[in-house]
Amino acid sequence: MDLELNGRVAVVTGGASGIGAACARALIGEGCRVAVWDVAPDSPFQVDVADFDIVKDAVVKTEAALGPVELLVHAAAIGSGKFGFPFTNLEPSDWPRVLDVNIMGAVYVAHAVCPGMAERKRGSMVFLASVAGQIGSQTDPPYSASKAANINFAQCLAKDMAPHGVRVNTVCPGMVKTPLNQSVWRAWNARQPAERQRTYEEWAGEKIRATTPLGRWQAPEDIADTVVFLLSARASQITGQTINVDGGFVMHS
Ligand SMILES: NC(=O)c1ccc[n+]([C@@H]2O[C@H](COP(=O)([O-])OP(=O)(O)OC[C@H]3O[C@@H](n4cnc5c(N)ncnc54)[C@H](O)[C@@H]3O)[C@@H](O)[C@H]2O)c1
Repeated sequence: MDLELNGRVAVVTGGASGIGAACARALIGEGCRVAVWDVAPDSPFQVDVADFDIVKDAVVKTEAALGPVELLVHAAAIGSGKFGFPFTNLEPSDWPRVLDVNIMGAVYVAHAVCPGMAERKRGSMVFLASVAGQIGSQTDPPYSASKAANINFAQCLAKDMAPHGVRVNTVCPGMVKTPLNQSVWRAWNARQPAERQRTYEEWAGEKIRATTPLGRWQAPEDIADTVVFLLSARASQITGQTINVDGGFVMHS
């Protein structure tokens, strides 16, 4: 199957780690020229997506180096580092940074790349959200709320950008072994009495057996495969969709 991605210019936010890194590798494998935007100190484009001036500057620098941005994968996100169940285990002050990075980050990136895509009548975007944004997950309430907002905003974008021939979709992973996922376990484990503490593998294994029909973790590459397909010409009639890559955890009608 020819994905028609060869030579295209892609931005991957959060591309220094986990799912974003797998997306960047997969796009490079398809012949794309990829700019990774990440706060990680060794990123060629060191970008805090929660700072609009920095994001606008990153578009200018990326386009000067690689050419007009045609593809976007927005994977940059954080958790609060706290464990809910119930939400009162967090303070209201635990919310703003998560909302800034996860919601405003998506808004800033969209504001920075959409006008160029609209003008050129060419582009495709995928936002990473989460099953947490679909089920009122109590694990990390500000994270869950931000992921619901990502899904909703991507639908607005899909409608606004459709007349320009630009597609926007959302991919929701379930459980993927990454630093973000590990931070959820760490926050949970820290709250348990000694006899209920689990290793990361034990905790995740129990969770997956209880919730996931296919019964295994998703690999970052499982998510990247779907992201790359959605970005590609083979998905040219797909926009405004929320696609779960979650082993069947959440089943929509
Ligand atoms: N891992 C999972 O189980 C899982 C499940 C559902 C959804 N997701 C979603 O997948 C996406 C990627 O998550 P991951 O698990 O690969 O996480 P990760 O922690 O491995 O990677 C996230 C990356 O985002 C970067 N980042 C964080 N804040 C940033 C900022 N302000 N500006 C720029 N970059 C920033 C980090 O440096 C990191 O490289 C996220 O949107 C997350 O919500 C992950």
